[in-house]
Amino acid sequence: MKKQFHGKVAIVTGAGMGIGRATALLFAIEGAKVVVADINMDKAQETVSMIKNIDGDGLSVKTDVTKAVDVKAMVDETIMNYGRLDFACNNAGIGGVSGMTAECTEENWDNVIDVNLKGVWLCMKYEIPEMLRNNGGAIVNIASVAALVGGPGIPAYSASKGGVVQITRTAALEYAMPKGGIRVNAICPSLARTPMGERIYAAQPELEKERLKAHPMGRMVEPEEVAEAVIWLCSDKASFVTGHIMAVEGGFLSQ
Ligand SMILES: NC(=O)c1ccc[n+]([C@@H]2O[C@H](COP(=O)([O-])OP(=O)(O)OC[C@H]3O[C@@H](n4cnc5c(N)ncnc54)[C@H](O)[C@@H]3O)[C@@H](O)[C@H]2O)c1
Repeated sequence: MKKQFHGKVAIVTGAGMGIGRATALLFAIEGAKVVVADINMDKAQETVSMIKNIDGDGLSVKTDVTKAVDVKAMVDETIMNYGRLDFACNNAGIGGVSGMTAECTEENWDNVIDVNLKGVWLCMKYEIPEMLRNNGGAIVNIASVAALVGGPGIPAYSASKGGVVQITRTAALEYAMPKGGIRVNAICPSLARTPMGERIYAAQPELEKERLKAHPMGRMVEPEEVAEAVIWLCSDKASFVTGHIMAVEGGFLSQ
């Protein structure tokens, strides 16, 4: 049986580990050719090897999402190698340094906003024209529950993710059209079991207990559970879904 994304091409940024890697693998399982973009080339190549081990087709591209020249090259390499672009998951992100608003340094603010917000905008800036040339596509940006509720101790992170939600809604309105448009959605995961999640807990062990208590389902989200939501939002099953901000958080926000 033909896989649902047979003949399609996806870019996943930050696909060297965590949520990005799980998403890249699931795109490959569904039949897409996957461009694994990451600033960490060793990790990106590891993901490509995993894709090849399941008989998928993948390509690693060294990309710093804060640099326009890198992001343009990421999209150019996609077109050069695979001839089209159908889907993008703009996932690359950093947590930055924790500390209250008055303690946040300018350097931390700039770093976090650059990667998490400017990075998502730059990716869309170069992905959108290729999707329009190709008769449309779907974009999923990875935000966070920190975009939807205040995040004490992570002012730059919350602001960056709030920005991702708003640029997602804006692009969704701009590129919604009866034919050949682009659906643009965002996912807001709560704390995930990824290298980023593990780093946060290693630095603040008490936080893990606190966070688990705050989750009605009593556990963190697995990267694969976020990846499933990305795949659904890109699929034809979500053909009338755009500008949607989907929380994947085990009931955390329902309290
Ligand atoms: N882990 C969580 O608890 C959690 C919760 C909510 C949202 N998120 C968001 O999900 C996304 C993925 O998080 P994760 O937990 O998988 O993180 P991770 O740290 O485990 O992986 C992030 C990946 O992004 C890459 N990356 C970092 N900076 C980059 C840059 N400038 N250009 C290109 N690649 C870069 C890293 O090399 C790494 O491979 C992020 O946007 C994050 O903010 C994570």
